[in-house]
Amino acid sequence: MSAVKSLPRLREEAKSCQRCDLWRTGTQTVFGEGPSRAEILFIGEQPGDVEDIQGRPFVGPAGRLLDQALAEAGIDRRRVYMTNVVKHFKWTPRGKRRLHSKPNQGEITACRFWLDAELAAVKPRIIVCLGATAAQALLGKSFRVTQHRGEPVPSPLAPVVLATVHPSSLLRAPDPETRRTERARFVRDLVAVRRLLEMAA
Ligand code: URA
Repeated sequence: MSAVKSLPRLREEAKSCQRCDLWRTGTQTVFGEGPSRAEILFIGEQPGDVEDIQGRPFVGPAGRLLDQALAEAGIDRRRVYMTNVVKHFKWTPRGKRRLHSKPNQGEITACRFWLDAELAAVKPRIIVCLGATAAQALLGKSFRVTQHRGEPVPSPLAPVVLATVHPSSLLRAPDPETRRTERARFVRDLVAVRRLLEMAA
């Protein structure tokens, strides 16, 4: 069995990652962030435009929404580990803008090396997959967030693994009313996560 590397060491090594071609267009590797012994680990898809520039996960619009939802659910962001399935921003140009582009299976597989190393280092009690890319990467290609949202799924990765929607889906809600109800549902999912943690304490 290979030795578990510390998060600072992994972060340093990941800076020069060329396991797939996304390093060519991404500004930098956006490694996970949070305490090395965090009990909850959140996984998104990939850094966005703001994250790519700042080099930190979930600091753009979706991250702000996630922060607010966590606070409302009584979860302190400083106590959770945030990361992504893919650690470089994949984008296509649209005029002066860089539009998010979904990572492909090859990129997800190449980056799994870092996610597995983060999971081994943090050993979270609860893993929360945000959105379909994270859920399918961890729970299998046939997993559907719409069908199994919030349900703990047996997994060797952690005592509790579950999936909910990605906060960016709330930002894309077609109207303010849908956004309000979907946001409230998201907060309820996070409250359930906090309760699961309290129950296991
Ligand atoms: N979306 C993600 O999935 N991750 C981030 O870090 C930011 C936006």
